[in-house]
Amino acid sequence: MMPEVARALHVVAVVLWIGGVGMVTTVLLPEVRRAHEPAARFARFHALERRFARQARWTVALAGLSGFYMVWRYDLWDRFRSADFWWMHAMLATWLVFALMLFVIEPLFLDRAMARWSATRPQAAWRAVEALHGFLLALGLIAIAGAVAGSHGVNLLAW
Ligand code: HEM
Repeated sequence: MMPEVARALHVVAVVLWIGGVGMVTTVLLPEVRRAHEPAARFARFHALERRFARQARWTVALAGLSGFYMVWRYDLWDRFRSADFWWMHAMLATWLVFALMLFVIEPLFLDRAMARWSATRPQAAWRAVEALHGFLLALGLIAIAGAVAGSHGVNLLAW
């Protein structure tokens, strides 16, 4: 496959994935907070987010495959040894955090732990849900800004 095709797939996957995280964080979470008492929030949110979790799994997989394919085809491994390419690290870190969350931590124990936590301390559990999504969205946006500028030769941190 031409690496240009991989780049196009990479960006499409990232748009659907991080766009979804933006929608969940800035629209869905505030609406669930407004419409439900703390004790009911997590269950409601979980039911609504289920469809997006499925979409996030395949977009994360596609972004990772296309990303590593480009690293291999363009032979960019050296970049991971240079701080100037912090945005390559930002992409990899963002991807790793999401992949771990979606494929390992959530299915293995996070869902159950959150259900238990929100039954005993619903307000603290809900604040954690909001904070986690804010953090993940920020990470994704930083990676996008850094990567778009960086892949056109501009280091946003040294600009
Ligand atoms: C395993 C994880 C990832 C790898 C290995 C990877 C790799 C790459 C590579 C090699 C490029 C091309 C760089 C260049 O042309 O100099 C790229 C571009 C890009 N990546 Fe990633 N990436 C990964 C994850 C992500 C994530 C998580 C995001 C966003 C949240 C992201 C967003 C982008 C964007 C926006 C571009 C720029 C496309 C352009 O303007 O041409 N990538 N990525």
